[in-house]
Amino acid sequence: MKFFIDTANLEQIKEAQALGVLDGVTTNPSLMAKEGITGQDNIINHYKAICELVDGDVSAEVISTDFDGMVKEGEALAALNPQIVVKLPMIKDGVKACKYFSSKGIKTNVTLVFSVGQALLAAKAGATYVSPFLGRLDDISTDGLNLIDEIRTVYDNFNFETQILAASVRNTMHVVNCAKLGSDVMTGPLSAIEGLLKHPLTDSGLAKFLADYQKGN
Ligand code: E4P
Repeated sequence: MKFFIDTANLEQIKEAQALGVLDGVTTNPSLMAKEGITGQDNIINHYKAICELVDGDVSAEVISTDFDGMVKEGEALAALNPQIVVKLPMIKDGVKACKYFSSKGIKTNVTLVFSVGQALLAAKAGATYVSPFLGRLDDISTDGLNLIDEIRTVYDNFNFETQILAASVRNTMHVVNCAKLGSDVMTGPLSAIEGLLKHPLTDSGLAKFLADYQKGN
């Protein structure tokens, strides 16, 4: 399973990259705003900076909600760097734009997916990635992981090449469960990735090894 980090924070991206397990980055307009990145030029420069920090795919989300606007914005974003994946909302014009970009060989990530039907449409439109938001489903007392499981079944039934990018991952157990269910990618915060490191028996075992070493030296 690929690990993407879901942030526009350059320090956190650097930290995940330094761990050696990072395969890409996802961003969205809210994450950009959280870092104080506003205005078209600053946003473009920020995408360029992110691409310099990582080797993998970097999702850059369009703001337009009409086909022509999405095509114009997406083409400009894709021209920044071959790592850029054009992130499109799961709306009618987003699906049309996805088909447009996939037929031109431009990578896409269809975002704000909350049902199997939406994931099916994204795959039919040739999306590179589909982003089911599991945390936001959990937030409304609906089983987000079940959606990942169902999309996996449908995609496997027809050998769709669209990769399931489990999004809105909030914690380490989400990461582990996405891996169990066969999600191709997960995107989450640095804390969810670093949480995988933690086990109390690792800490106590290491403390004992070091203490025993000290006794003999
Ligand atoms: C997906 O690409 C989104 O950026 C993100 O995962 C949303 O996560 P949230 O629900 O924690 O805001």
